[in-house]
Order: sequence, then structure tokens, then C-alpha cells
Amino acid sequence: MGNDVETKLLQIDPKNFSEEALKLGIHLLKIGEVVAFPTETVYGLGASAYSFKGIQKIFQVKGRPMDNPLIVHISSMEMLKDIISISEIPPNVESLCKAFWPGPLTILFPKAKKILSEVTAHLPTMAVRMPNNPITLKLIELTGVPIAAPSANISGSPSPTTAKHVFHDFNGKIPLIIDGGPCPVGVESTVIDLNRDPPLILRPGGLNFEQLRQYLPTLQIYDKMIPNKELQARPCIPGLKYRHYSPSARVILIEFRSHGMENLIIEKLDEMFLQKSRCGYIHTQVDFTLPQQYRNQLGENFIDLTRSDSEIFKEKVHLHAHIAQHLFSALRKLDDQEVEYILICGISEDFEGLAVMNRLNKAASEIL
Ligand code: TXA
Ligand code: MG
Repeated sequence: MGNDVETKLLQIDPKNFSEEALKLGIHLLKIGEVVAFPTETVYGLGASAYSFKGIQKIFQVKGRPMDNPLIVHISSMEMLKDIISISEIPPNVESLCKAFWPGPLTILFPKAKKILSEVTAHLPTMAVRMPNNPITLKLIELTGVPIAAPSANISGSPSPTTAKHVFHDFNGKIPLIIDGGPCPVGVESTVIDLNRDPPLILRPGGLNFEQLRQYLPTLQIYDKMIPNKELQARPCIPGLKYRHYSPSARVILIEFRSHGMENLIIEKLDEMFLQKSRCGYIHTQVDFTLPQQYRNQLGENFIDLTRSDSEIFKEKVHLHAHIAQHLFSALRKLDDQEVEYILICGISEDFEGLAVMNRLNKAASEIL
């Protein structure tokens, strides 16, 4: 596929925009084109869930296998009720939607007849979410159709959390990217299946287990229920069998543990410096500081995710949210800086730590 279209980057302020600004996006979606848009989790690459041409285009430009279904994005409960019968929304499901939508939660419903079967990869279920971004909610509402959208990245690479990331992957391949600024959550939505007993998290994500558990006391995490080997053979979610979130560099993950991580990092960095490999290090641990000489040697390939300009995230709930928000962007940055290796330490799997570790385990070429 060559560079055959001009990609327009349209900046819109999510806090202050006119419907006029969305005109081009609405038009493109209506004629079966694809449009990239911001959500609170990651950028999405959307097309009308009723347009065969648009859906085909998503799979084609992403290089996504056709058996990996897309999430259907809606702007209101009315839109959901318009496509499936009300009896298919049990009261407990509706109260969950009320609690967490718009937000980073994707729920499986019986597939609506109106939605193309290519969207759900011919599965009897359809994944639905209402994204929490005013631009995108308005875009869906004014287009007047549900929008099917995967993350707006080339299949297999880290998801995009800025419009620049989308431009990097799709310049010349899609007509429009709506730039609504960086995504505040940074990892994709949590996908849950409430038709099973116990209800299951199929993909951990931006809405954490602790929050969901308050509404679903028996909730379990699919990954944790069956051994790893079986998981490979029997993924509950089609996307799980594919390579994911990987930058071009080899990611070396040091598993979370209470002792010895520090020594392993130093050992590994010494080894790489000795071999003269170009390596990057993403710092995720508040409990220790990488000695200055190592930071100097790493230079711009040292990325600290434990702090922002103004604060150090000492509390785990804030630290993990911050790491989730910036993880994909850090992986992409190191890729742009052409490192061969990316070294990163795991974090404990609470709060957003569960989603972060799910992504890191998939991205890693080596786990120590
Ligand atoms: O936050 C998000 O969820 C982002 C934004 C753009 O909304 N979207 C996103 O889409 O992450 P994608 O396509 O990158 O990931 C969707 C995941 C895939 O692993 C897919 O296999 C799974 O959801 N999925 C979709 N429909 C499904 C279904 N009916 N049953 C099981 N898994 C499903
Ligand atoms: Mg994706």
C-alpha cells in the first residue's frame, strides 16, 4: 500500500469546540471512510459499524487479522437500545453502564443484527463501549451510527496515546486524524463478559478490578484462572493470540518482586553497556534511584515514569495510573530513538498495575 491519501491532522479542543469542527469527520464516516479520534484510553480508528467498505478499510490499513473483532462505540444508551432489544440489557448490566459509562469499560452483548458480522468477526457476541471524550461522543452522536473502532495503531505495535503516534503509523493511509490531545488513561478499556458465571475480565484495562469488584463481587480475571499454556491455546478473546504492544526494540522485563530487582537492573545495564548495545530504561520503581552514572550514560534513553514535572507518585494508586498513562508513549519514544533493547521493571498487579503488566508481559521478548 503506497502513500495514496493526504492525511489531515485536525486539532480540536475537547473543552471548547463547535459542531462545525466535526463536519469533515462526520462526512467521512458517512461515506464509509475511516477517521482516527481521541478517547480517554487510546486513540481509535473508526468506521461506521454499518459500512462494509469502512470496516474492511480498518482491517486493511491496520494489517489486522479478520478474525479479531472490533469494539462498537456508542454515544448514548439510546443508541445501544436502538440496535439491541431492551430484554438483552439486564438490570445489573444497565446499572454497570450507568456507573461507568462513558468510561474505559467494554461489555459483551449478544450481537445486534444491524451490526455487520465482519465487525464481530462472526462471533455471536459484540463488544460495546461508550468512550469518555466529548469530541468523540459528539462525533458519534452527529454521525448517528455506532462506530466500530480498534486502537489506531498498526497491528502488533504499542497503542497510540497522542495524535502524533497515529500520524506516525497512518500518515498517507487515512484521510483524517482528530487531535484532541493526549489520552488521560493511556491503556485500553477493560473488556468484561457478564454472560458467564462468574463474570470475567477478558482484558484488564483502564477501569481497574478493584473498582469493578464493588459492583461485581464474584468477578474473576480470565488470565488468572487458567495456566499460561492453556491460555495460549484457548484465548477467551480473539485478540489474545496475536503479538501485541511490541515496539521494534526487544523489551526485557524484570518481573516484580520484593528483593533483588535493583541488582538485576544494574547487572543488565552493565552487560549492555559493555556490549555497546543501544538501550533504553523505563523507571517504574519509587523505592530506588538509578545511580547518576547510569542515568548519564543512558541520557535521553532514561525515562522516569515515577514522577511528573511537579510530583513524585508515592501512593501506589497514583503511581500505577501514571505509569499506565505514559507506558505506550515511553515505548514509542524509545523506538523513535532507535534503541535495540528496552529494560523495564514490573509493578505489582493492583489498580492499573494489572493492565500495565498484561501489556508488558505481551510486549516482552525476555522476562527475568
Ligand atoms: O479502549 C479501547 O478499548 C480502545 C479504544 C479505541 O476504544 N479500543 C481497543 O480496541 O483497544 P482493540 O481492537 O485494539 O481491542 C479490542 C479487543 C481485542 O482484543 C478483541 O479481540 C476484543 O477486544 N474483542 C472485541 N470484540 C470481542 C468479542 N465479541 N468477544 C471477545 N473479545 C472481543
Ligand atoms: Mg489494539
